[in-house]
Amino acid sequence: MRSADQLPPFVDLHNHLVPGVDDGAATIAESLDALRGLYDEGVRTLVATPHLLLPHLATDAAIGRELDAHRRAFDLLVVDAAASDVGLPALGLGQEIWAPAAADLRRVLGRSDVGLGGSRALLVEFGFELRGTHADVVQAAVASGRQIVIAHPERYHYSLGASPLDVMRGWRKMGALLQVNAGSFGGHYRLQCPASERLAWAMVAEGMVDIVGTDHHGPRRLGVSPAEAYGALCARGEQAHAQRAMVVRPAAVLRDQPVEEPEAVRTPGGDA
Ligand SMILES: [Fe+2]
Repeated sequence: MRSADQLPPFVDLHNHLVPGVDDGAATIAESLDALRGLYDEGVRTLVATPHLLLPHLATDAAIGRELDAHRRAFDLLVVDAAASDVGLPALGLGQEIWAPAAADLRRVLGRSDVGLGGSRALLVEFGFELRGTHADVVQAAVASGRQIVIAHPERYHYSLGASPLDVMRGWRKMGALLQVNAGSFGGHYRLQCPASERLAWAMVAEGMVDIVGTDHHGPRRLGVSPAEAYGALCARGEQAHAQRAMVVRPAAVLRDQPVEEPEAVRTPGGDA
C-alpha cells in the first residue's frame, strides 16, 4: 500500500466518526483514533455524516434535537482534534439522511443546518431494501436546488426484475451523484450484499462512480481503507477515475461547484 505522501489528498464525505451519536465511533478517543488512521491513509478533508433517520423522528422539533446532538458532539470532537499533536483531516459536519420517500426528504430540504459541510449537498440513503426506484426522492432534492448524493447504491437490494445499473443511470440522469463505499471494491460487504463488489466495479466500468467514501464506523474499520480502494482502482488502470471520485468531485461538492457532466467524463476505452 502507498504511504500518505504518495497519495492524493482524499476528501471523505461519508463516515460515522462523530462520537456517540449513532452506530459509529462511540467515544472521542475512538473518533480520534479513526481520524489519525485516515490521515495516515491520505485523507485530508473529512465531513462526518451521522445517521439522520427521518422516519424515526416524528416532528420537526425531534429533527432539530437530533441535529443539535450531532453538532454538540462534533464541536467537542473539534476541540480535542485541535489539541492533537498528530496530523488529522480538516473536519466538517454533515448527515447521512435516511429518506425512503420524497415526503421524508422534504422535511429537511429547507433547513440550513442540513447538508454536507455547510454546502447545499445532501447525502441520502433510501434503505437497503429498495421499494421501486425512489426517483421521487431524487426529484424532490433537485427541484429544491439541492445536490443529492446517493449513498452506496452498490449495496442496495434492488426490486425484483430491476436492473441496478439502469436504476443508477436513471438517478444520475436526474442529477444525482453516486457515492460508492471504499470497502466495496475489496468485497467488504459481500456477506450482506453479495452483488456489491461486482456492482461497484461495473459502476467503475461505466464511469458512474462519482464519489468514493469510507462509510467508516470507528473501530469497525476493517475493509474500509481509502488507500486500498485507491490502489485497487489504480491497479485496474483507473487512476484518473479514482482521483476524480476521491479528490476532485467531493471537493467540488463541498464548494457547491458543478461537477463535470457524467456523460462527458468518460471516453470509450479510455479513462480521461
Ligand atoms: Fe453510512
